[in-house]
Amino acid sequence: MSDNWWRDAVIYQVYPRSFADANGDGMGDLAGVRSRIGYLADLGVDALWLSPFYASPQHDAGYDVSDYRAIDPRFGTLDDFDAMLAEAHGAGIRIIVDLVPNHSSSEHEWFKAALASGPGSNERARYHFRDVDPARPEVPPNNWQSIFGGPAWTKTPDGKQWYLHLFDSSQPDLNWDNPEVHAEFESILRFWLDRGVDGFRIDVAHGMVKADGLPDTGGDGSIEMIGTTQAPFFDQDGVHEIYRRWRPVIEEYEGDRIFVAEAWTDSAERRALYLRPDELHQAFNFDLVLAPFAAADFRKAIDAEIANNAGVGAPCTWVLSNHDVQRHVTRYGDGELGLTRARGATQLLMALPGVVYVYQGEELGLGEVLDLPDEVREDPTFHRTGGEQIGRDGCRVPLPWKRDGLSLGFGEGGSWLPQPEDWSDKSVEAEDGEAGSTLEFYRTAIALRGENKATVLTWLEDPAEDTLAFDNGAVVNVTNFGDEPVSLAAFEGKEILLTSTDLQEGDLPAGSTIWFKR
Ligand code: BGC
Repeated sequence: MSDNWWRDAVIYQVYPRSFADANGDGMGDLAGVRSRIGYLADLGVDALWLSPFYASPQHDAGYDVSDYRAIDPRFGTLDDFDAMLAEAHGAGIRIIVDLVPNHSSSEHEWFKAALASGPGSNERARYHFRDVDPARPEVPPNNWQSIFGGPAWTKTPDGKQWYLHLFDSSQPDLNWDNPEVHAEFESILRFWLDRGVDGFRIDVAHGMVKADGLPDTGGDGSIEMIGTTQAPFFDQDGVHEIYRRWRPVIEEYEGDRIFVAEAWTDSAERRALYLRPDELHQAFNFDLVLAPFAAADFRKAIDAEIANNAGVGAPCTWVLSNHDVQRHVTRYGDGELGLTRARGATQLLMALPGVVYVYQGEELGLGEVLDLPDEVREDPTFHRTGGEQIGRDGCRVPLPWKRDGLSLGFGEGGSWLPQPEDWSDKSVEAEDGEAGSTLEFYRTAIALRGENKATVLTWLEDPAEDTLAFDNGAVVNVTNFGDEPVSLAAFEGKEILLTSTDLQEGDLPAGSTIWFKR
């Protein structure tokens, strides 16, 4: 029986190392997540997506997995996982876990065995190894660059072969031409499905299959992942075969469980290919992460997503922030301007048909932390580019739960990244029950969204330039992307459900959204 909960859910991303720290080691953990299930239930979210908590040397914050069936001791134990899952299910919240199939950690048993065995061995065939050319020993097999900076190839310790890593050198890419890799990941899927998870977020879902012969990319070989791209290692058609094998596996399990793809593609058309009925359920739409705060850009991204996903019968999946990108409060402008627009954009998102993902801390109005000292930065991007790219630590700073105290209530052992002083006023304690706070705004928006479900999207005549007005079958949404207040005279007499900012003498302030009952 399918209740299709995932077609209009609000899903909250927990970044475990920065959410809540129960054991006081300065890093969040699963017991911390468990302790805050009540908070998440009050927020009104339907499901959580947890970034990786598996055994890992943490060279890429856990996206370097050394054992896919074990919990890293920093985050707890399998018992802690089961207890967290039970607590969440008890509160009616589903749990989606992160699956990292493009690469393992270099500390994974398979990679250790590959290094221990020689070239040409079955162990090496699970990854992409290539001989060093004695005539050109310093020239890697092709021109691919790591997404994190520097070459995508590193030599084995004996200097005889290269191995491929699209990310850090501690994240060797698995070889998905090898049936053993398929079998292993199907078994990993079952391991977590048997434990009761409700789905998987697939990391680098567009990356596992590489073009035959590993041909050079155009240009200097450097490809941004965050952006739009197709490359010999991204968005290859062969990747869809993997999902056609995985779909029947998940379908064997009861409870309407899902896959959500992190797939950066050239276009909404290519993204929709991952959502064909025999493949995945959702794919993050990153177009609004990349779009400026402007009516035309939002409308274009929304239209493309709706048209293409309708073609394959998949829900739209809206995102403004996650652990890899600058928080949208900061993207949209300094100080109050950024926060006002972020609330306006969030309210618009909540009126769209489909699924909305919320990244932890956005419900508090947190911005990017831009001034972290270099010595605390952990993101491999920062280190591999010699600091040229600042990296993603600024959106990963641990959450403030209390106004005061060490780590603002995150845990009793401090916090692995320092929190800005003004986060005291943005803590859960400060915002809870406070009329007009961003936390109360999110709670209200999520509740109203649930009571007024979007069924369609019909654009209405915009009341002014740089505004968007639409009817979703339950509410009329008006967003003002411009710099001046906009008159709402055209909607006179309609009942107001919610505004992201207080009205200014009856007008909709710049950067704000209003909902009217239809
Ligand atoms: C994850 C990143 C990670 C990368 C490599 C991504 O897309 O979201 O945080 O660094 O994959 O696993």
